[in-house]
Amino acid sequence: MKKMLITGETILTGVFGWPVKHSLSPVFQNAAFHFCNLNWVYVPFEVRPEQLKNAVESIRIFGIKGINITIPHKKEVVRYLDAADEEVRILGVANTIVNENGFLKGYTTDGTGFLHSLKEDGNFSPEKKLVFLFGAGGSAYAIAGALVKSGISGILICNRTIEKAQMLKEHLKKNFRFENAEIIPFEKRNDSKIWKNVDLIVNTTSAGMKNDDTILVKGNNLNEKVFVYDIVYNRETALILSAKQKNIRCLNGLSMLVFQGAVSFTLWTKKKAPIKEMKKALFGFIEKLQLR
Ligand SMILES: NC(=O)c1ccc[n+]([C@@H]2O[C@H](COP(=O)([O-])OP(=O)(O)OC[C@H]3O[C@@H](n4cnc5c(N)ncnc54)[C@H](OP(=O)(O)O)[C@@H]3O)[C@@H](O)[C@H]2O)c1
Repeated sequence: MKKMLITGETILTGVFGWPVKHSLSPVFQNAAFHFCNLNWVYVPFEVRPEQLKNAVESIRIFGIKGINITIPHKKEVVRYLDAADEEVRILGVANTIVNENGFLKGYTTDGTGFLHSLKEDGNFSPEKKLVFLFGAGGSAYAIAGALVKSGISGILICNRTIEKAQMLKEHLKKNFRFENAEIIPFEKRNDSKIWKNVDLIVNTTSAGMKNDDTILVKGNNLNEKVFVYDIVYNRETALILSAKQKNIRCLNGLSMLVFQGAVSFTLWTKKKAPIKEMKKALFGFIEKLQLR
């Protein structure tokens, strides 16, 4: 592989987060720039919450072309932007900024990234399907919105804090006129009657990130036609492991991570993202980490 050469004309992009050292985005974004022969670079910036406003101003000062926004800044950042696309206005969160000559516009790529990943890596079309969604946090809003727009028949929303599930249901009704949402209380989630007609299970909660986390679905509730998507990407969750044990189609969050990054790449460069190269870089990096 050619070495990256930073010159006076190198275009800067990156990610603001706190903490940010764990971010995997630099690995696949730089691989994408390199593959497309772009003199661009992507770097992590550790931005403390009290410095976010100044950090956003620095995008203009340094002429940074694009920035991703990660935890904990996705909501707060919106007030410092000059414009926001429709999804950001509805959701109130942004994870991507595009700088056009000092004018900063915010986008959110989670919903589109999830959908592209589901269709391209999962070969699964959500149209007319019944979805069981775990979670009612930031990513649940983006994913539920994307699924509703792609024509699902219904959605069962299950969240530890039931009031938040109710708010997500209201959001779908108000912003998408979608009436086919039902709340499943978290403690009733393993009632076998619920699962018979479910086509797609999506976990958008952080449950599964740790070894001793709550088990979301008992293995006997996974029917063989269901598709399981767990957006957690730091490990194989219990949900993914049970799906694999039963030979059920499934995807983990690494696929969405690449596809939502690909949407940012295209917003910044106006070029098609080299998904294959991005995945190769990401999986190669993870393999090296595991061998260490
Ligand atoms: N693959 C990707 O590209 C991608 C992109 C974005 C996010 N993610 C991952 O998605 C997860 C959620 O992110 P987010 O931004 O939506 O976070 P968030 O807004 O903080 O929401 C967290 C959600 O997880 C639930 N939760 C947390 N701990 C739980 C537990 N032990 N048992 C059951 N539910 C639990 C919360 O329920 P309560 O409402 O009851 O607190 C809430 O619904 C994280 O793991 C994140 O890394 C992945």
